[in-house]
Amino acid sequence: MKNEPEKKQKIGSALVVGGGIGGMQASLDLAEAGIKVYLVDSKPSIGGVMSQLDKTFPTNDCAMCTIAPRLVSIGRHKDISVLTLSEVEKIEGEPGNFIATVRCRARFVDEDRCTGCGTCVANCPVRFIPQPLDGYADVQLSPETKTLVDNIIAEHRFRQGPLMPILQSINVAFNYFPEDVMKYVSRQLEIPLTSILRVASFYNAFSLKPRGKHIINVCMGTTCYVRGGERLMDRFGELLNVKPEETTPDMLFTLKSVRCIGCCGLAPAVMIGEAVYGKLAVKDIQGIIKKYRGNGHAPHDH
Ligand code: FES
Repeated sequence: MKNEPEKKQKIGSALVVGGGIGGMQASLDLAEAGIKVYLVDSKPSIGGVMSQLDKTFPTNDCAMCTIAPRLVSIGRHKDISVLTLSEVEKIEGEPGNFIATVRCRARFVDEDRCTGCGTCVANCPVRFIPQPLDGYADVQLSPETKTLVDNIIAEHRFRQGPLMPILQSINVAFNYFPEDVMKYVSRQLEIPLTSILRVASFYNAFSLKPRGKHIINVCMGTTCYVRGGERLMDRFGELLNVKPEETTPDMLFTLKSVRCIGCCGLAPAVMIGEAVYGKLAVKDIQGIIKKYRGNGHAPHDH
């Protein structure tokens, strides 16, 4: 995208960087004022964080109802060019008369012909490398592990949609998904490992890495965040000497950051295993950790 710079002459087009709600509204306002707009976003689509939210704080407005009309207006506006998967590399000139160099990454689909049906995602030959049905024949599980996994598979394999209950049971048994067990399940169910991993990596309750006995979920949803969730996270990290998503060397605790655990009225809130600690103060954290450390069992006083 180039505007030829002629010194001091103002050119009637604008560059908006970032396609979140602010960038979208700015683009619409500029375009309505008769200015040609180039809206640049590094993501594959515009919408920003708001497109991932259900409600917005503090008014509880429906996020999609806020951005959907703007997305449609931008898509239809003749004076707005949307450049996704793109980043501004450099800007030369002065305000009102500049040249912006924008790098657009390859999208690997013809945007003019794409209808957004998603079929290409489901059939991507790179992500879903077809595996032979007799794959992972060399995977060796210990006799105890094999018996445990065989029992889990036998319990669920003839149900409709057996993968999810099998993964849930394996998660309960191991607290994470050991690689060899996943390969074994893939072979037994004749489901490609990539399809299993796609499910396993989607849910927050699952992990592909070994986790601690107690998983500390510090809520960083909007309500908890504004009421001090970050301070709680810092204190847990300081006392356990781990960062978010890390596990203590004794495999007792894993510290995690989560988005809204469904008890915003108790913010700031933390969930350890099944126990919820609402309106939690930084000063109480040491005592909580001590209780869990005490005998290795979860305390029952919450
Ligand atoms: S934001 Fe923390 S429980 Fe909802």
